[in-house]
Amino acid sequence: MSKTAELIIDGKSYTLPVIEGSEGEVAVDISDLLEKAKVITLDLGYKNTGATKSAITFLDGDNGILRYRGYSIEDLAEKSNFLEVAYLLIFGELPTQPQYQKFQHDIKTHTLVHEDVKKILDGFPSTAHPMGVLASLFCSQTAFYPESLDPNRSAEGVYLSIVRSLAKMPTFAAWAYKNAVGHPVNYPDNSLAYCARFLKMMFALPAEQYEVDPVVADALDKLLILHADHEQNCSTSTVRIVGSSKASIYSSISAGINALWGPLHGGANQEVIVMLENIRKDGGDTEKWINKAKDKNSGFRLMGFGHRVYKNFDPRAKIIKKAADDVLNKLGVNDPVLEIAKKLEEAALKDPYFVERRLYPNVDFYSGIIYRALGLPTDLFTVMFAMGRMPGWIAQWKEMRENKEPIGRPRQIYTGEKLRPYIEMPKRG
Ligand code: SDX
Repeated sequence: MSKTAELIIDGKSYTLPVIEGSEGEVAVDISDLLEKAKVITLDLGYKNTGATKSAITFLDGDNGILRYRGYSIEDLAEKSNFLEVAYLLIFGELPTQPQYQKFQHDIKTHTLVHEDVKKILDGFPSTAHPMGVLASLFCSQTAFYPESLDPNRSAEGVYLSIVRSLAKMPTFAAWAYKNAVGHPVNYPDNSLAYCARFLKMMFALPAEQYEVDPVVADALDKLLILHADHEQNCSTSTVRIVGSSKASIYSSISAGINALWGPLHGGANQEVIVMLENIRKDGGDTEKWINKAKDKNSGFRLMGFGHRVYKNFDPRAKIIKKAADDVLNKLGVNDPVLEIAKKLEEAALKDPYFVERRLYPNVDFYSGIIYRALGLPTDLFTVMFAMGRMPGWIAQWKEMRENKEPIGRPRQIYTGEKLRPYIEMPKRG
């Protein structure tokens, strides 16, 4: 017997179906509420609203659980690698050896970008934020691959767009950085693995040899795994709703890159380091800054703290915090802001303001400390987040298309003026 919910409005009762997910999550299905009861629901920020059914990623915010296609983030971060996780998220299963080798090969054969991309890149001033450059370069792929605009593209054609997206993202990211520092761009070296290839494009200079440090490449690979998907977050929801209009994968993901840029979302990893540096320069008085974060009039938030879903530790933050110690020790880096971050975390987790609101460190709280130790500039941190989230965006866009979901078009409650007559200009006043 399927469960139902009863809604009573003005004394009239409406029965609504209740659905349950594979992990026991329960939703009231209001798909025909407007037709039945002539009412809609209102939920600013969609805090209580499911936008879709998805088989890709499972989050349990109360217990700090994150799984990609049923595999725990802890297992994947320890035992897998980014390309294997990308395959898992996009195609639903861990690849066999032949599948993985073909995927690696297909990606390697698409790492170059059209030479005309350089003309677009040259149009950006060196002061341009790399996220804006990245979103533009990524969307420019609609021009170089117009066949991607076909909403009824074959599965083979969609696979090609998927491979191109994963293959060219590191090239775009590295080129956005080179544009900012005024260095010549590097072409991808396909003899290297994914992260090593990116690092060489980022840091190699024509005047000298460049060897990728395997510690750095491994740390980056783990960070990309931890960022690979996170169910219906702001940027992924953006990718899905843009894609629901049958826009191409490149324009949908370019929209996702722009959504991720916001400081409340992926842009937080950059803001965390800015915050920690300010606290360091201010003498490291963490209690003073905790009090500022609690003062609504200060306009200051503890960046990297709090989460819409996790009301317990973000499991990714736990892994990244441990990795930060490991990586900095291996690289012999002593970053004073790491100790400040730990002091902030310790103080906040004891403070009633944070405890009552169940505010814990999120994925962004420690990631910037590792990126900095890897030699990445602060305004490239969110680009790293985007590079990591690429497989998730692709998987969610693909699932939405394969499920033939309708165009996303929310309703509203109108609070504006009632009908009124037009007034000629001379009579206004
Ligand atoms: C990401 O959704 C995802 O999955 C995102 C992400 C992913 O992988 O895609 O996990 C990545 O975006 C992580 C979040 C990165 N953002 C930050 O670190 C920015 C700082 N945190 C926030 O601004 C905030 O916590 C959000 C945006 C993350 C969540 O906001 P919510 O769920 O809308 O919560 P809220 O803003 O309504 O806050 C609830 C209360 C408020 O106080 P009261 O009105 O109850 O008095 O908590 C307070 C807020 O003022 N609060 C904070 C705080 N975060 C929330 N107070 C101080 N410092 C903070 N960081």
